Parts: sequence; C-alpha cells; structure tokens
Amino acid sequence: MARPTGKQNCGRVVLVSCLALLAAGLVADFLWASSHRFSSVGMSLPSSVTTGKDTEKKKKDKVRERKLSATFQDLAAPELKWEKMTAAPVPRLDGAAIQIRNFLYVFAGYGTIDIVHSHVDIYNFVDNTWGGRFDMPKEMAHSHLGMVTDGRYIYIVTGQYGPQCRGPTAKTFVLDTDTNSWSDFVPFPVPRYAPATQLWRGRLHVMGGSKENRHTPGLEHWSIAVKDGKAMEKEWRSEIPIPRGGPHRACVVVDDRLFVIGGQEGDFMAKPGSPIFKCSRRMEVVFSDVYMLDEEMKWKVMPSMPKPDSHIEFAWKVVNNSIVIVGGTTEKHPETKKMVLVGEIFQFNLNTMKWYVIGKLPYRVKTTLVGYWEGQLYFTSGQRDKGPDDPAPRKVMAEMWRTKLILNP
Ligand SMILES: *[C@@H]1O[C@H](CO)[C@@H](O)[C@H](O)[C@H]1NC(C)=O
Repeated sequence: MARPTGKQNCGRVVLVSCLALLAAGLVADFLWASSHRFSSVGMSLPSSVTTGKDTEKKKKDKVRERKLSATFQDLAAPELKWEKMTAAPVPRLDGAAIQIRNFLYVFAGYGTIDIVHSHVDIYNFVDNTWGGRFDMPKEMAHSHLGMVTDGRYIYIVTGQYGPQCRGPTAKTFVLDTDTNSWSDFVPFPVPRYAPATQLWRGRLHVMGGSKENRHTPGLEHWSIAVKDGKAMEKEWRSEIPIPRGGPHRACVVVDDRLFVIGGQEGDFMAKPGSPIFKCSRRMEVVFSDVYMLDEEMKWKVMPSMPKPDSHIEFAWKVVNNSIVIVGGTTEKHPETKKMVLVGEIFQFNLNTMKWYVIGKLPYRVKTTLVGYWEGQLYFTSGQRDKGPDDPAPRKVMAEMWRTKLILNP
C-alpha cells in the first residue's frame, strides 16, 4: 500500500480505499457489503496513515477514543430493579431453554469451552427452586440446538456434538415433559448449528443455521408435519429459503405469523488439524434484520432491531403481543475485533410493529435463557462481560435474575 506523504494526498477517497484494502487483507471472509453500521461507525485509521499536523492527529485520536470507547454500542435504557434468585446448578453457555407453564427446562450447554453438559435442569417459578435433573440421550447435541415446544412435547433438532468447535449432528429427538422420556425423531436432512426452529401450522419448521464447517451460513428451510411428538410424514419437505442464513437468531410464532429476528453470518471454526477441534476466531456479521412469513409463504421485511443482535435463540418471550429479547451479541469492536455483548432488553410490539429498548440488564450477557412468570421477566445462564467498561465476553454464568417487566403498550 502506498504511504501517503501529506494530508493533501490522503484525501477521503484514498483513505477509504486504504481502509478497504486493509480490512480486506485482515479479514478475508468478512462480508463487507452487508455491514452498513460497521463502515459508518468510523473504523480506526491505520497507523501508517498520517493526517499531517500532529495536533490534528491528536484531535482525531481523541474523537476516535470517544467513538470507540469500551462501551461501544451500548444504548440508553431505563434502569430496572433486579432481584437475584437461586443460581442454576451449573453454568451454561450456548444452552437451550423451553418454558412450559411454571417450569423452565434448561438443556445442555458449555460449562467451559472444554466441558459440555448432557443433562436437563428445571426451574420452578412457583417456589423459585431448581431441581428435577435428568440426562439427555447420549447422541443428542450439547449446544447450538434448534428447539421448540407444543406445550408438552419438546422437539430438539441438530446442534453441535461435543466441546470446543466440534462438528454438528443431524440427529433429532423429542422429549415428552409429562413423563420426561425421550424418543428419536426423523433426522434432519443435513447437520446444522443453531438453526431457527418453530412449530407453525402443524409443522415443525427448521431453517438457516451454520453448515458443517460452523461458519458458512445455511439458507435452507425444511418442515415436517408433527402431532403429539410424532412425525406425520416420512421425510422433511423443502420450503422457501430464508433471505439471510446463519445461526443464533430468535424464531418466534405469534398470531399465525413466523418471525426470524437478528442472528449472524459466520462463527468460530475448528482450527484445521487440531485434535481437540480448538475454536478459532472467524469474523461474523451480526444483523438487526427481522423477517416474517405469513399465509402467503413469502418473506416480508419487518422493522429492524434497535441494533444488530445475535445469540438470542432462547433469549426471548412473547408477552401481551410483544416479543421481548434479552441481551445477546452485537457487532465486534471495530478496533480490538473482540466480540461485543449486549446489555439491553428489547421489545418488539406487534400491535404497533415498533421496537423499544425497555431496560438494562445487570450486565451485558449472551445466550441468556429466558422465562416469564406473573409479571416477572427471568433470565439465567450465558456468558457475561468483563465489567461495565469492557463489553467483551468473559465468565460463563449460572446466575438467575428477575425484574418486573414493563412494556410499551
Ligand atoms: C399484559 O396485559 C394485561 C391486561 O391488559 C395487563 O394487566 C398486564 O399488566 C400486561 N403485562 C405487561 C407485562 O405489560
């Protein structure tokens, strides 16, 4: 790259192309075109590019510091009163959760990057206790599961088998929560990481997620007719692909419409040749996109989230015709490239089709597992930030918190 010699030479066009080249070199698989926010937020100047006068440079550095402060991307949000409840028996990252009546069934997840859980814990909202632990089938994935319930049967589709960045499975199961007994289900046509999963119009719908290498977004969408925990067909049926693929999005059915919210393209991958499939960073693009399917079976674009948000597949609840989403991850820090966690609660009001930021969490946290009971919003598990001034991920949590949910009508 030519090194500009003076401020005249380093005009806007040169700067932009310098930056583009640099970024392309740094991050070969970064999807530049789809990252509007990234480019507008003001990426750091490469140190080899000078703007001429020292004072001018200092001034720019200051502005940059402010823009890229550690709290990058935090949004203003109402303070909420949080109450700490009994912590879960184990910490969990990338676990899964399903609420049935007053019970929150919490599945699988990483305890650490090298240890995965293979059991279910149950929280009872009535007496606020944990209990009822039982094992998952040996063949069931340990993280990145697709999961949904009809109120009794829980369908568990694909996911990552094992710790670190191991491969996905196509195996699929059903849990009958009346008897806590498991059965096998028709395997998914392909293995997937964290596909969007919902029951809609008598069919189990599964779409998106990451492909076998953990990074490449899948766009495919399949469904199969189900009833009382059983498949009514022999095979999965191909459906309209989703507009953008990738893992870790919320997939919600309300009032006969199916929504997919947020998520990302790309994810960590196993280091080539690593015997333990050691996770290595790949750049992901996080999105704020919201898409909807209705009876026309065509995707419609809905208003975007207040900011890009991923790792929210079990971080939502529907309350009073609003979708409430708790925490997540947003776009990486432009300078450090570190993952940036989300510390807000969002409301998508389906009466008005408007998004709101309705509160601050006790800390920024991703892959929360969320429940709602008698006016209180609960969250447990996930990976929290390093502290108020550093939104990068650190500790895997077992804590359970609740707050009174206040929605915008
Ligand atoms: C939901 O609606 C009911 C009935 O209007 C109301 O009493 C309740 O407070 C609402 N809940 C929330 C969390 O807004």
